[in-house]
Order: sequence, then C-alpha cells, then structure tokens
Amino acid sequence: MAYKIPKDLDLAKIKRRAKSVPVYLVMKEDQIDTVILPIYGKGLWSTMYAFLALEGDTNTVKGLSFYEHAETPGLGGEVDNELWKKSWKGKKVFSPDWAPVIDLPKAKVDPQRPEAIHQVDGLSGATLTTRGVKNLLRYWLGENGYGPFLANLRQQGV
Ligand SMILES: Cc1cc2nc3c(=O)[nH]c(=O)nc-3n(C[C@H](O)[C@H](O)[C@H](O)COP(=O)(O)O)c2cc1C
Repeated sequence: MAYKIPKDLDLAKIKRRAKSVPVYLVMKEDQIDTVILPIYGKGLWSTMYAFLALEGDTNTVKGLSFYEHAETPGLGGEVDNELWKKSWKGKKVFSPDWAPVIDLPKAKVDPQRPEAIHQVDGLSGATLTTRGVKNLLRYWLGENGYGPFLANLRQQGV
C-alpha cells in the first residue's frame, strides 16, 4: 500500500512511500546488534537509494551506503567515496531528545567542536546532492519515517 506524503513533510522529495517497509535487525544473542534501514530520496539528478546501519542504540552510525543513484561522478557521485563513507562511522544521528539532527555542513567538520558528533563533511562541488542526503536522512529518521519504530525498539527491545 502506498501512502501519499504531504508536501510540507516530504523532506526526501519522494511524494509517496509504502506504508510498511522491511527493516533488518541483526541480533547478537538476545540483543539488537545492528538496525539496517532502507532509505531513499532525491539528489540533484536522481533518486538515491541507500542502507543506513545503526548500532543497537538506534543512534550510532555503523555505516551508510548508497547502492543506486545517478549523481555526477566526481561531484554528487562522491557519495560512493570510501573515505567519505568511513567518516560516517560513530556519528550520532539523533539529539539527546531524539530529534534527527545529522548534518552535512559545507565547511569541513571541526572534530574539536561538540557538534562534530552529528556532522559529516558535505561533498565539495555538490551542494545539492549533499542537501538531498541530509534531507532524506532526516525524513527517514523522523516522526514520519522510522522515528516511531526506533522509539519502540528502544523501549521494548525485541
Ligand atoms: C555537468 C554538471 C554536473 C553536476 N553534477 C552535480 C551533482 O551531481 N551534484 C551536485 O550537487 N551538483 C552538481 N553540479 C553542480 C550544481 O549545478 C551546483 O553548481 C552545485 O551543486 C553547487 O555546489 P557548490 O556550492 O558546492 O559549488 C553539476 C554541475 C554540472 C555543470
């Protein structure tokens, strides 16, 4: 079943989405080790599809990997850059009150600053793709995406 996303909520610019989406939980004994969330949204030229892997705390990034997009190689296509992908590891997507605050500033992230824990470098020369990445993450992690599901996981485990 498709659900039409009201324009003002459609941060990822996808217009509609399935009402239920499969997510993947990797268990270690009886604990959630990894939560894998399919996410997607518009870049500059294309809809970009990714998996976001979070630790069992539902907050710490294990990895972000785009598996389909048509952004420009060397510009938006740098979403595939291995070093950039590595820089996501350990970032916290949520604020202490569980608002999605992951950010991709244009200026290089200063690791000394406290907000660096929520920040990954924006892709240079690709402001629009970068904005797409930030917005799709915030959509899917928010109230209208996986937010309620993740809150449930934190409360109940599985
Ligand atoms: C052929 C061509 C391909 C481009 N591809 C991308 C792209 O994949 N992603 C992107 O954000 N900007 C791309 N741009 C640049 C955008 O038009 C825009 O200038 C840019 O996003 C601004 O980023 P900046 O402020 O970091 O320079 C492309 C521009 C040209 C001429």
